[in-house]
Amino acid sequence: MTQANLGAAALNAASSIPAAASLHVPSYVRHRGLIDWVTRIAALTEPDNIVWCDGSQEEYDRFCEQMVAQGTMKRLNPAKRPNSFLALSDPSDVARVEDRTFICSEKREDAGPTNHWVDPAEMRGTLEGLFRGSMRGRTLYVVPFSMGPLGSPIAHIGVELSDSPYVAVNMRIMTRMGRKVFDVLGEDGEFVPCVHSVGKPLAAGETDVAWPCNPTKYIVHFPETREIWSFGSGYGGNALLGKKCFALRIASTMGRDEGWLAEHMLILGVTSPEGRKYHVAAAFPSACGKTNFAMLIPPKGFNGWRVTTIGDDIAWIKPGKDGRLYAINPEAGYFGVAPGTSEKTNPNALATLGKNVIFTNVALTDDGDVWWEGLTATPPAHLIDWQGQDWTPERAKETGRKAAHPNSRFTAPAAQCPSIDADWENPAGVAIDAFIFGGRRSTTVPLVTEARDWTEGVYMAATMGSETTAAAAGQQGVVRRDPFAMLPFCGFNMSDYFQHWLSLGEKLAASGAKLPKIYCVNWFRKDADGRFVWPGFGENMRVLGWMLSRIEGKGQGVENAFGVTPRYEDLNWEGVSFTPAQFEQVTSMDPKAWREELALHDALFDTLRDRLPKALLGVRAKIEKRLAD
Ligand code: GTP
Ligand code: SPV
Ligand code: MN
Repeated sequence: MTQANLGAAALNAASSIPAAASLHVPSYVRHRGLIDWVTRIAALTEPDNIVWCDGSQEEYDRFCEQMVAQGTMKRLNPAKRPNSFLALSDPSDVARVEDRTFICSEKREDAGPTNHWVDPAEMRGTLEGLFRGSMRGRTLYVVPFSMGPLGSPIAHIGVELSDSPYVAVNMRIMTRMGRKVFDVLGEDGEFVPCVHSVGKPLAAGETDVAWPCNPTKYIVHFPETREIWSFGSGYGGNALLGKKCFALRIASTMGRDEGWLAEHMLILGVTSPEGRKYHVAAAFPSACGKTNFAMLIPPKGFNGWRVTTIGDDIAWIKPGKDGRLYAINPEAGYFGVAPGTSEKTNPNALATLGKNVIFTNVALTDDGDVWWEGLTATPPAHLIDWQGQDWTPERAKETGRKAAHPNSRFTAPAAQCPSIDADWENPAGVAIDAFIFGGRRSTTVPLVTEARDWTEGVYMAATMGSETTAAAAGQQGVVRRDPFAMLPFCGFNMSDYFQHWLSLGEKLAASGAKLPKIYCVNWFRKDADGRFVWPGFGENMRVLGWMLSRIEGKGQGVENAFGVTPRYEDLNWEGVSFTPAQFEQVTSMDPKAWREELALHDALFDTLRDRLPKALLGVRAKIEKRLAD
């Protein structure tokens, strides 16, 4: 956005605007528009202090020490977990809040029926009321950050003004944060302004709580002016505004306008024993396996294969001059789900967590380390749980109380991951050979399907359903449509988003380039006893291996109602015992269940009917016909 825009877009601040001098602006900050904006926000929110973050280790250590003294974080045992901390949140502030997330485009239709919309002028009035004096008694941290390698042509800059030191230290891990960003911004560089307050001002003499937040929460995006305002929460995607708010909701609208994609996707590299390397981007909804898939270790039977990690949550994807799609990971760290992460399921993640980690809402062991459900088969005899209470396995059996919150997380530097890809910071990105879309479905959806063409792939991704998880507040385990795993993250009308994907495919095809193949997967089919049938995790390599064999034109499969699926003999089973009967359990397609599934596709399309691309209805008709055959 232009700086003129920025000025117009900011809220009207209080009349008593402090002089820039009283802001203690460091001499290396030369951006007048930025300084004016900070001035106005400070006048509005009335913090006691302003700290311009330089991103140094010394500063990080200082913020952490302050939080330890204040009670927000505990230092873990340095002998077990050097330079690592545990934060326990308020029990009401443990996940994203989709009901409180707003896309305030000028026109309601541009936000579309899947987003919450409020008229931008009305929302600005609401925000002004909420933010007025909201930082009293607190420090305002100016957090400059780059999404993507600093200075890269695909990177974009944001500045978050937050009254949470927890946000400042997490942003230092999750993004390229600090003084260098000001150098790149210069006097008039573009940035996305992000304002965040936990919404708990302190009266003079009032003592603070360990995790300040406000029962009223607003996570607000203004797509036209590219602004983010977040109030009331200190947690994850609600508060680390570079992540879902910027890198997905705002960036997706930038991509719509400029011809690229911002996606809820991991990016991995996979190299064959002969040294052929492919790149895959995969979209699964929150807490449905992206981090795990991105760090996969090939199992027995795949000797010599290597999977390397480029990103675990977000991909920015741009068409290159050669007609291929190039992806970068805009983040610099992992904000990963702790429960279920173990030496068995994800050894690379565990190795990443050895030091320099912030844990949030996991349990504390008696020797000052961390624990969560699934970390070890047998839990420790005693823990302090995520709510700070004594926890024993016996009591937990009676009460069902979890030691770690189901959405407890680790924040860890990406560079510490043993499987990190040599190209993970390559500003040019990596060329994508396949897209994978996957949901969490205990029934109906088969292990893997290959789309026959781009349009069928877009249909599969658009109609994907998934059971809800603890990553967002609300009921869990309910199947809902989650198009492209972007339902909570698309900053504009979902129908326009589908059309954007279709148009991009046409454009790439017209350039003569080979389009990435599109796959649909489901690791989560269950048996009658409610157990996962597919072993998952490293064994997912068997499915990835089939995809690569298809890309190379060697792998076999059969035409199905819904794309091409492998037969038992088309997968490599060396080193695992998985019977044809079990394979049938995870791949069967029940026509009755599929007719019900189609009705759910129809319901989604009905919601989106105003701007729904006709091509998708064409695919729908073909599937119905094949099901009837
Ligand atoms: P977000 O960070 O919320 O976007 O989640 P994510 O998509 O990165 O999910 P993640 O890899 O953290 O996995 C979420 C949960 O699913 C964890 O408890 C994992 O242990 C579990 N999980 C991941 N992959 C598999 C799999 O292949 N099979 C099964 N059964 N569970 C899995
Ligand atoms: C998700 O919910 O998809 C996450 C965690 O990756 S959060 O950062 O809270 O959005
Ligand atoms: Mn995510």
